Amino acid sequence: MAAKSALPFSVGDELTVRFETMAASGAGKGTPEGMAVGECSVFTDRAAPGDVARVRVTGIKKRFVNADLVEVIEPGPDRVAAPCPVFETCGSCHWQHLTYDAQLAQKHEVASYQLKRLIDDPSILTPVAPSPSPLGYRVRGELTAVRTGATIRLGFRRHRSHDLIQVERCPLFLPGLADRFDAIARALVDRGLAEDQPYRVRIFLDEATGRIALAAESHERASYPDVAMVVIDGDGRLVENPELDERPFSMAVDGRTIRFHPHCFTQINPAVNERLVADAVETVAPEKGLRVLELYSGIGNFSIPLAARGAKVLAVESSPVSHPWAEKNAAEHGPLPITHDGRDAFQACRGLLENDATYDVVFTDPPRVGMGPMVSEIVSLFEARRIVYVSCHPQNLVRDGLILRAHGYHPTQIRLYDMFPQTFHMESLAVFEKF
Ligand SMILES: C[S@@+](CC[C@H](N)C(=O)[O-])C[C@H]1O[C@@H](n2cnc3c(N)ncnc32)[C@H](O)[C@@H]1O
Repeated sequence: MAAKSALPFSVGDELTVRFETMAASGAGKGTPEGMAVGECSVFTDRAAPGDVARVRVTGIKKRFVNADLVEVIEPGPDRVAAPCPVFETCGSCHWQHLTYDAQLAQKHEVASYQLKRLIDDPSILTPVAPSPSPLGYRVRGELTAVRTGATIRLGFRRHRSHDLIQVERCPLFLPGLADRFDAIARALVDRGLAEDQPYRVRIFLDEATGRIALAAESHERASYPDVAMVVIDGDGRLVENPELDERPFSMAVDGRTIRFHPHCFTQINPAVNERLVADAVETVAPEKGLRVLELYSGIGNFSIPLAARGAKVLAVESSPVSHPWAEKNAAEHGPLPITHDGRDAFQACRGLLENDATYDVVFTDPPRVGMGPMVSEIVSLFEARRIVYVSCHPQNLVRDGLILRAHGYHPTQIRLYDMFPQTFHMESLAVFEKF
């Protein structure tokens, strides 16, 4: 049974709150007027540090309260007018009301707090490397589409709701996508979308040619058929059944072009990815013959730069879509000393361990859920002198990092990157060394 709250509030009460900081959830965190900091925390989306604001209580826990913003009475020094007209209601981004410098500072503060359990020395955490473009950086993303008659409405889910917020553009995307929502909506006409049902539309930009790939699936997947991928060509022509094996999408990484099917995972922010790859190379310190086990290797974003500098890479990637592209990319830029393994990371690690394999470095870049306890346990057993862990989820990095630490791998640097400006999400690269 939930503990009864001793806080003197009820749902629906209006409070005046002074906000101090941003929380890991993306909400502003503050204290009600008349209470001491720490006595009761109030969490409110779209509040900013330094704001004094009126809020309405929506939920009460033992020591904190969730509340909606009613009115900003005194804006804090970091508050700015959001560049997007639908920011207040759209559920897609969270921090457009903060200056970019404040976003970076708050991400650092949130990461310091979240990583406390893993690191003893806070100075190993770098400042957050900014995105060269705080807007107009996304090369792919997800929209919501609803068909009514012959009209397709395109946009995002409303903040904390399933309703659609219709938009004409989104400033987070690169211009080649941001300014093409009209064309994307037109491409979805007559494609069999069920009436008045929300569809998840995945969009991808090929920066080199201006082509856009899109595919859609019903939010209730079982009920309605998916919409197969189509491509809007650079000149606006719609290409049905696009031959993506012959004309794949591409991105520039480390001075090379790597190719892929739009269903493959690629990093969302190409400019920050360049920095991440350069730092991966620096921290792995590849040299001829260095034995690297790379887990969750995708289409070769890190494998190719590492192998091109002499490292002998075993690249493990289980996606049947990405794995062949990793092989093609390595061949195109090769010969490179990369061996590809299409097994699941755990199965691959277990098999390698059974054969007494050892590595100099383990490099890992798992999905948001992290490696998980089983893979974290097993990667500690390859006698590597260093484990480099790329993560977009600090809590899962802490969970896995504590397992590595229990096996003698201590975090020696954690580099932070603003891969996702205007949102509370962040990317990190952690180096664990055995001593
Ligand atoms: C965050 S992405 C990183 C990809 C690549 N390192 C990059 O930078 O583009 C995670 C990758 O792990 C793959 N993946 C997910 N679960 C996996 C598993 N259990 N075993 C192996 N690969 C997996 C996904 O297909 C995806 O390509």
